[in-house]
Amino acid sequence: MKKNWFIIIAGLFMVIGLAACGSSNEDAKSGNEEAGETLVMGTSADYPPFEYIDSAQGEEIIGFDVDIANYIAKELGYNVEIKDMDFSGLITALSSERVDFVLAGMTPTDERKENVDFSDIYYSANHMILSSKDNEMVKPEDLDGAKVGVQLGSIQEDKANELKDSGIDMEIITLNRIPELIQELKSGRYDAIIIEDTVAKGYLESNDDLSGENLPNTEEAGSAVAFPKDSELTKEFNEVIKEMKDNGKMDELIEKWFGQETVK
Ligand code: ARG
Repeated sequence: MKKNWFIIIAGLFMVIGLAACGSSNEDAKSGNEEAGETLVMGTSADYPPFEYIDSAQGEEIIGFDVDIANYIAKELGYNVEIKDMDFSGLITALSSERVDFVLAGMTPTDERKENVDFSDIYYSANHMILSSKDNEMVKPEDLDGAKVGVQLGSIQEDKANELKDSGIDMEIITLNRIPELIQELKSGRYDAIIIEDTVAKGYLESNDDLSGENLPNTEEAGSAVAFPKDSELTKEFNEVIKEMKDNGKMDELIEKWFGQETVK
């Protein structure tokens, strides 16, 4: 008789135990689903409207790329944590896997492709010469004898070197951050800077003293997401980028941040 009671009580405990276990398992699972895996995004938040801090609005990094990252991550069930660094350090951050992907208005060049993988291009751009209205430079030849600023490690730095090699005698100065380049130009310490038209547009709108002209006959540049070599994320991201182009989300974000439709 005593033994029977023992079995019944033990049985009861087991049932309660299992039930508890079951529910705690479920909690853990749904908790995980909500939390998702966190991907670290590397960027250089000096690049309005792609990624920047609008101090009037707060401390947060906002922009076109940030919206794209959040949309893609949400679709794929990841969280995103943003790491801000100099543009010239992003490729190393990827190859040393300190970040899972880079969204920084980065152009997929052959040289970079030796070290990282790229998604499809999500937005295209061209090189632009920015100068002061009272010392306007509109074509490459105008840069002869000029002091020209570019962002360190950017394809605009490559472009400037290419122009110099082709015989335009200019002094090239590299800086890490775009707002610093704009400052140097505005203060007259540089004669011109070369940046992307998509980014120049915003500065032209808020600075009447500046003038901008696209560099002629240059191959079109564009932005893509960068990943460590052979990352499985490349394919996953490409699927969502395609979906965003098809369902109008990309155009909506372009309109939001650049105020224009895609030119296809
Ligand atoms: N598209 C150019 C490049 O890849 C410039 C990108 C600069 N991006 C930035 N977040 N500062 O070189």
